[in-house]
Order: sequence, then C-alpha cells, then structure tokens
Amino acid sequence: MPVITCIDDLKRLHKRRTPKMFYDYAESGSYTEQTFRENTTDFAQIRLNQKVAVDLTGRSTAGPMLGENRAMPVALAPVGLTGMQRADGEIKAAKAAEKFGVPYTLSTMSVCSIEDVAEHTSAPFWFQIYTLTDDDYNRRVLERARAAGCSALVITVDLQLLGQRHKDLKNGLTTPPKLTPAVLADLATKWRWGLEMLQTKRRFFGNIVGHVEMEGDTSSLAAWTAAKFDQRLDWDRIKHLMDMWGGKVILKGILNPEDAELAAATGADAIVVSNHGGRQLDGALSSLRVLPSIVQAVGNKTEVWMDSGIRSGQDVLKALALGAKGVMIGRAYIHGLGAMGEPGVTRALEVIQKELDTTMALCGETTPAALGRHNLLVPKDFFDSYS
Ligand code: GLV
Repeated sequence: MPVITCIDDLKRLHKRRTPKMFYDYAESGSYTEQTFRENTTDFAQIRLNQKVAVDLTGRSTAGPMLGENRAMPVALAPVGLTGMQRADGEIKAAKAAEKFGVPYTLSTMSVCSIEDVAEHTSAPFWFQIYTLTDDDYNRRVLERARAAGCSALVITVDLQLLGQRHKDLKNGLTTPPKLTPAVLADLATKWRWGLEMLQTKRRFFGNIVGHVEMEGDTSSLAAWTAAKFDQRLDWDRIKHLMDMWGGKVILKGILNPEDAELAAATGADAIVVSNHGGRQLDGALSSLRVLPSIVQAVGNKTEVWMDSGIRSGQDVLKALALGAKGVMIGRAYIHGLGAMGEPGVTRALEVIQKELDTTMALCGETTPAALGRHNLLVPKDFFDSYS
C-alpha cells in the first residue's frame, strides 16, 4: 500500500486510476470555478492560534450530529456518480463510514440504489433527495428510503437546475461511459477500474433507472436534471416534502442569513451552509466566509453545519471553531475511493481524524466542543469585505 500522508496523496492516485471524465466530474466547479477555488483558498487564509502547556491527555475527536455521538462530527456528503469512481462505490463508501463511525449520505444520483446500500450495511444511512417533476416518484423514493431504514433526509435546496461544468460537456460525461475512441484510449491505462466495473451489474443511476418513465438518454446527468428536476421547489414544497418524510431533515445549500432563517422556520433539524462545492452559483462566496453570519442568525434554532472546501482536519477545526456543529466532506473521501476503494475512504477518514486530533491538541483543546473563535487568527475584514 502506498504511504498516504494527506488527502492530496489520495487525490493524485484518484486521478491516475480513474477515467478522466469521472475524475473531472468530481474535481470541477461551475463556469470559471471562482467559487470552487475560493472554497479552499479561504480556508488557507485563516490561521491557528497555538496554545501550549495544556494537559492533553484524554482527548477525543468525537462529537454529536443530529443528537448521535460520532467518531468525529464529519459526515460523508451525497456525491452523484460515486459508483463510477470505483465499481459499487456507494456501497464501499457506506461500509467505510459505518466502520469508522461517521454518517454516510446516499445521493439520489447514485449508481448503487438505496436498496443496494441497505443490503450491504447495517448502520442506518441518510438519503439525499432531488425532487423530480414526477410527484409519484418523489413519494415512492421516500417510501423506499424509509423502508431501507434511512435515519434522515437531506434535501438539497440549491440544485433545481445544474450549474454548467465545462469539463463534463467537453468529456461527454455519461453513466456508464460511452466507449468512444478517446474513452477507450483513457481506459487503457485504467485497467483496474475497467475490470472491477465489468464485474458489477451496477452501472446506471440505480435510484432512477427502472423507477421512473424516461424517454431518451438515461445516462446523462445534465439531460436528467434539465428534463426531470423540479424547478418548482420552493419553501412550501420543501415543507410538504418534510411532512411526507415525517422524520429528521437536513436542508443543504444555504448561503445567507435570510435563507437560513427561512430554512430554520421549516423546523429542519440541521442546515448545511454550502455552495455545493462550488458546482452551482459561480461567484457565490465560500461557505467558510458566510458561516459565522448564519451561525449568529439561526445557531440557536437548528444545528448549523457546513461543507465546501474541507480537505483536512485543520479545515474541520476551522469550521467548528467558527461555530459549525458539524461538517460534510465530499471530494476528500471521493479521492480516497477513486484511489483505493473502501480502504481509501477509510484512509481519508483516518487522515482527517488524525489531523483534527493533532491540530486540536496544538491549539490547546481536547474536544471539538471546546473549539471557538479564540483558536483562530482571522485577517481583518475577512468576514465583512463583501456586502
Ligand atoms: C450533483 O449534485 C452535482 O453536483 O453534480
């Protein structure tokens, strides 16, 4: 096994071992990728405040998410097409998360279905929903998630339509890939991916194909979203969906205090400050930059989490110190999956946990709950340089 010291090591292997169209799908933002880039460069601008001569024994990275104690307050975010990064990718990621003790979220746009993941895991996972114009499908998919024992519903509120990712168009992204000469040439160097893919039957959008009427191309995410995603999804419809579900709900994709107030007013158990990893509104601020204003607005009404830009335990610490009660990671674990399958996801989680633990200790803290603004050094005007 190669020596993996950080998420970037996994990213390099992911790139080497995975077909270009799927690596690019994960490692893209929309349009100019300004927001995608700033999600990570903004984390780098915040510095840490060392504190010495503290008793560091008895440390723990554990913390609650939705009232349940986890190995660390870090959940695996829903990521479309995970099962194209590696055969049966959603099952592998869910198994790694379960063994590690953190929540896994299955995307509507996954390759393995809700039932596939339920069959191969025993801990309840979370289900992320994109609502389609077909209300009957929405009702049935919620029933399927309930039957599979999903313990929370993640409603993504920032993707009624897809922000354009240039690379996906240039690569002709489809699930499964169409075997054009360019794709075949790429696959020639990704033989392990191809062999594993030949051995699985899971190569389509497992939650959708066979569950909904669809003429035309069922393999293209862009075609799907354009044709079928429900652009009517407003707060009333979100509330209706929450009532239909009747269980715990996380609203993901909030970027300002006004929307956060509306989200909290629905009674959501948690909200995720997120710009969808820079994949939707290019030009939006990084999640990190808007996080404190949202914590201030609704932090006493609902659990505030964040995602977008987290690639290390240091990043997790910064988000928690700014008031997030938990975070979600997407690319960080997808790089692990594309690099090494299930052990790669485990390695990604280990790396982040070790970084969080060491960094917390060097900041003089022994639990995530103790983290706060005092642990950070933030450039003047960082949070109010835009209005
Ligand atoms: C889907 O959620 C995507 O960002 O591609």
